[in-house]
Amino acid sequence: MPAPPSRRSERGYSSGLGSPIGDPLARYEKLGAVDARPVDRLAHLALVSVHLRGVDAAVADLDRLRQRLDRGFRLTNNRLNFDQALSGIDASLEALNIDVLDLFLIHWPLPTVRDHVEPWKAFEKILAGGRVRSVGVSNFQIAHLQRILDECDIMPAVNQIEAHPYLTQTELVSFDDAHGIATEAWSPIGRGVVLDDEVLVRIGELHAKTAAQVTLIQRGSTIFPKSISPSRMRESFEIFDFELSGDEVRQIDALDRGERVGPDPDTFAMIPPG
Ligand SMILES: NC(=O)c1ccc[n+]([C@@H]2O[C@H](COP(=O)([O-])OP(=O)(O)OC[C@H]3O[C@@H](n4cnc5c(N)ncnc54)[C@H](OP(=O)(O)O)[C@@H]3O)[C@@H](O)[C@H]2O)c1
Repeated sequence: MPAPPSRRSERGYSSGLGSPIGDPLARYEKLGAVDARPVDRLAHLALVSVHLRGVDAAVADLDRLRQRLDRGFRLTNNRLNFDQALSGIDASLEALNIDVLDLFLIHWPLPTVRDHVEPWKAFEKILAGGRVRSVGVSNFQIAHLQRILDECDIMPAVNQIEAHPYLTQTELVSFDDAHGIATEAWSPIGRGVVLDDEVLVRIGELHAKTAAQVTLIQRGSTIFPKSISPSRMRESFEIFDFELSGDEVRQIDALDRGERVGPDPDTFAMIPPG
């Protein structure tokens, strides 16, 4: 099997399954329909063991599951200043009922509301405290990252940004690459808006793949598409058995229109209550 052309982590795929509420067996049936990752199979096991083997066995199974998962969390937008960001780790660990997070992100830069350098300095302190394994940002533009480079001690491990064929963010991804920041692409298929694109459909037909699969293999970043459909989840995993030609990559790159499906990080200013 050829080496995966993009940096995908287990953390990078959102199964869309949500929390394990409802009939465990019904959920098991749904999950059992897909070629799930090992970590999902372990989740099935735990859900089913509640039903068949009782709560104690399920707790043991879930503990095994917890040790397999990468746990990432984002600082909520209402934690604006240094102190609020610093205490954000306590709230997050408490909410997740765990002692250590794998990755903690500042969700939005909120440049019209606050100075994003302040929460980042709190994140440096959080990292030094050992209760997170890495810290990063989300939706940060080059100017936001440049200030961190100029005024802070460490750079984010990750920048989670909207990226898909209609918004390739080439310069930002290059900046991330140049500074050792892993780019994670949210909405990697543009919430479906790119799927009827004739270039993607045509290239897909040549490889017996869907436009979604062409879009996902095209991304050089970690991707995390979201789907509630088992067949689409399977489809999104089945992308490592084909390669695009250089010409096809150029055709897809040329689709960039700077078109967002989500908010613009330079103006986004939504602060949730609380
Ligand atoms: N950091 C941030 O600020 C931020 C912002 C927005 C989103 N995110 C994260 O990004 C992740 C994904 O983003 P997203 O849900 O906005 O966009 P997306 O993954 O690009 O698109 C999801 C939509 O595409 C459909 N879909 C998924 N796989 C498909 C396939 N193989 N073929 C056809 N359609 C498919 C889904 O429908 P079905 O469910 O019906 O299959 C759903 O309607 C989420 O986990 C979200 O939490 C992060």
